[in-house]
Amino acid sequence: MKILVVGAGGREHALAWKFLQSAKVTDVFVAPGNGGIAADSRLNQIDIDVMDFDALSQLVLDQAIDLTVVGPEGPLVAGIQAHFSAKGLACLAPSAEAAQLEGSKSFTKEFMQRHRIPTAAFQAFTEINEAEAYARSLGLPVVIKADGLAAGKGVVVAQTIEEADAAINDMLAGNVYGEAGSKVVVEAFLPGEEASFIVLADGDQYLVFATSQDHKAIFDGDQGPNTGGMGAYSPAPIVTKAVSQRVCDEIIEPTLKGLLAEQIHYTGFLYAGLMINDEGAPSVVEFNCRFGDPETQPIMMRLQSDLAEVCLAAVEHRLDQQSLVFSDEAALAVVVASQGYPGDYATGAVISGLDAALHSQIFHAGTKLEEDDLKVNGGRVLALVACAPTVAKAQAIVYQDLERVQFEGQYYRRDIGYRAVAREGI
Ligand code: AMP
Ligand code: GLY
Repeated sequence: MKILVVGAGGREHALAWKFLQSAKVTDVFVAPGNGGIAADSRLNQIDIDVMDFDALSQLVLDQAIDLTVVGPEGPLVAGIQAHFSAKGLACLAPSAEAAQLEGSKSFTKEFMQRHRIPTAAFQAFTEINEAEAYARSLGLPVVIKADGLAAGKGVVVAQTIEEADAAINDMLAGNVYGEAGSKVVVEAFLPGEEASFIVLADGDQYLVFATSQDHKAIFDGDQGPNTGGMGAYSPAPIVTKAVSQRVCDEIIEPTLKGLLAEQIHYTGFLYAGLMINDEGAPSVVEFNCRFGDPETQPIMMRLQSDLAEVCLAAVEHRLDQQSLVFSDEAALAVVVASQGYPGDYATGAVISGLDAALHSQIFHAGTKLEEDDLKVNGGRVLALVACAPTVAKAQAIVYQDLERVQFEGQYYRRDIGYRAVAREGI
């Protein structure tokens, strides 16, 4: 079986790495991939943009690729699924309609309200005055979100009314997020601890992946602006068996049923970003129509089942015959970024130490291969991931290995996994 992975990040590198382990898979293509994928002789890196559906489907036809798996939200929201399906090509991806669960926060909030799926109180606005008045009525802290896609960065948790007003003005008048900010969602702050809950769905059936937790903020202690994610680990201890059951009963099933009731057949990965309160009650902070990045990296390290087999089963609507098995070990990923990210950052620095005898797995993101050099080519550059019996041990392995991997302007958080490590210490 030949597989195409669409995307360029650490998530796609980890998916491609996992596909290579399948006895059924003979070839793995990644478009456009990154430097780490280009440097790996077992993977075929192809220079095609994720939004160039014609070129991607032509590649699939030319190479007789059996299954395409899409990583990032951009092509999903833009309708890659319909493009492939019109050509009779198997593509594991939700339709553009289904991908609105990520592409439009107001669509998702209204959908959750219709189907009584637990989430924070909210309203959507295009008028500044109305948004400010509603923010005041909710009390502090209050959360202001740009409606469209903003790469995980269009959210402000305002601690003061001034901050809330400024965020509303930036988004609606200041055009800070462009089209994505032409509408804002103002919502109540949910207290608790976050976790990522990812399933693979084929309409009405689904398989649950191992839980995970990511660190979105740029600085230690979860401080500073949000990023795409600076590190993640799996499992998330906050999601006990009982909590997991509640998530399935109160969130995943009503979501898939609600979509079907609205004639939307959801096939693909569905990621629920959750807030779990003190009583173990889960609420949805956001949905993503894809796998998480960097959550994919530790989850794939723990996955023992054949990923190609389950992805094909999802496309063929036979997930009832499948299961997912995960190692009992914990896995932890630390993302190495280029200084300045999530703002402006430098590119071009040569990365050294990747050939050292590391105990971690390396998944590349913003890298490119030039001659024999791997160079920085993005904000999140790569991630190191280790598995161990405890999160603390996995964390120790990754941080030790990170002493060897170096480039100019390198930045990473020093505390990835701190909540889980503190729990293990009890
Ligand atoms: P989102 O892009 O909607 O996932 O939001 C980004 C981050 O903002 C989340 O991961 C949370 O840390 C925080 N956040 C968003 N909405 C809320 C909320 N209603 N209550 C508390 N924190 C929130
Ligand atoms: N790590 C968060 C995300 O993938 O959206």
